[in-house]
Amino acid sequence: MVLVTLGCASGAQADAAFEGSSPANGETVAEPLTEIELRFSDPISLNETETRLLDSEGTELVYEPVEIDGGNAWLLEPAISLDEGIYGVVWQAEAADGHTVRGVIRFGVGDVVLAEPAVEDEGTEASGDLETELAAAEELGTGGGGGPVASIASAISNLGVIIGWGVALFVAFVALPRMTWVGLYLLRIMRIAGIVAVVGAVIDLASQLLGGSSWNLIAAALLRLLAGAALAGVPGMVNGSPFIWVLSGAVIISYALDGHTVTAGPLWLMVATDAAHVTFAAIWGGGILALAIALALVLRKRTQEASLMPDGSELAVRFSRLATYSVFGVAVTGVVMAFFILPSPGALVTTAWGWILLIKVALVAALAFFGYRNHFHVIPEIEYAQVQRDSGSDVREEEREHLGQLRKTLGPEMALVVAILIMSGLLVQASPIAG
Ligand code: HEM
Repeated sequence: MVLVTLGCASGAQADAAFEGSSPANGETVAEPLTEIELRFSDPISLNETETRLLDSEGTELVYEPVEIDGGNAWLLEPAISLDEGIYGVVWQAEAADGHTVRGVIRFGVGDVVLAEPAVEDEGTEASGDLETELAAAEELGTGGGGGPVASIASAISNLGVIIGWGVALFVAFVALPRMTWVGLYLLRIMRIAGIVAVVGAVIDLASQLLGGSSWNLIAAALLRLLAGAALAGVPGMVNGSPFIWVLSGAVIISYALDGHTVTAGPLWLMVATDAAHVTFAAIWGGGILALAIALALVLRKRTQEASLMPDGSELAVRFSRLATYSVFGVAVTGVVMAFFILPSPGALVTTAWGWILLIKVALVAALAFFGYRNHFHVIPEIEYAQVQRDSGSDVREEEREHLGQLRKTLGPEMALVVAILIMSGLLVQASPIAG
């Protein structure tokens, strides 16, 4: 998959990087200036409130922002031309995926000597107030990606939403109506996952609102908040009601609204691929947890062995089939998304986004290895025991042994799912553009 991604990576981009300015940072020009140009790798929307043109005293000068080249470049046109002196621009912009990028440039006009940033030597033109403003803006970093708070929020809400939704899908579609004990037992897990999702979504929403993010990111966080609240508050509705469809719709739409999938590649393809990716991820990831818990109960209740054991085997076989489709599903949809998001094959090893993806794929490979062993070695044994039981043999001991074997591998598999979901949260917030 890494090779396919490397070989096919397209030129589409989702985030935006600052490519330079005219005058350049640190440059001194001879003639009075009537415009300052800022250039970006991808279209951006300039945040006119946060973007300030300052003179050497740190006073804000009035300017008119003009978008050129489809948003790939912006001109700041001062109301009066900039004569001899030292100036600075503190700029902030929003990339198409909603991530904030920001930076600072300082330049001189006429016969002036620019001070090194934050150093005021004797003999250089007084630029104290300007330097204070620029230094404060520089401390905020260059942005790109969603920042540490957004990354943590995204990782937490992924854990809650995908696991909670996956367990709900397990109860609704993998368990049979007669297995009411499964639902009762798993409702608690859905509640806990729902609370985790609410915590992640609240942090996410607060950081989006405070950071003045675009409407799509705010709507995505709101939908995840609602999905988490529904899982935590009314998990029992999952049986025999349209609840599961409403929940699935809310989660799928929330994921379609954020991440790099919103801006890269053809929108319809990315939205469809993303929807399929998160659905397969929930079926596989949430299902592993649900099956582990169901089997733990089956193996613990010796007194109800005769009735619970056949249910345990049935659940394992039914889930194994779904999990097999899901493995291929997440892999194919994941590679398609990576193909459109990666700006160039090299970005896999030169950007944070690329490295996080590589680690995630390695974790998925380890998970798929466990799945392969279960699917080809343990599940056939369980199926064989089921056939023998149906023909009247007492196979309780064999079934117990095989279900126990399966249960043991589900522990490390769960740990891998948690790690993959955390990586996915970091991935969505990282920038696939270097610099
Ligand atoms: C080979 C396997 C996989 C590949 C190549 C892959 C790749 C990707 C890519 C490229 C994205 C989009 C990131 C962005 O917007 O910047 C993504 C998102 C995501 N992936 Fe995967 N993935 C894989 C497997 C999985 C698995 C196994 C899970 C969960 C168990 C998972 C869960 C997620 C989640 C929750 C998202 C966030 C979706 C969004 O915010 O729109 N992925 N993945």
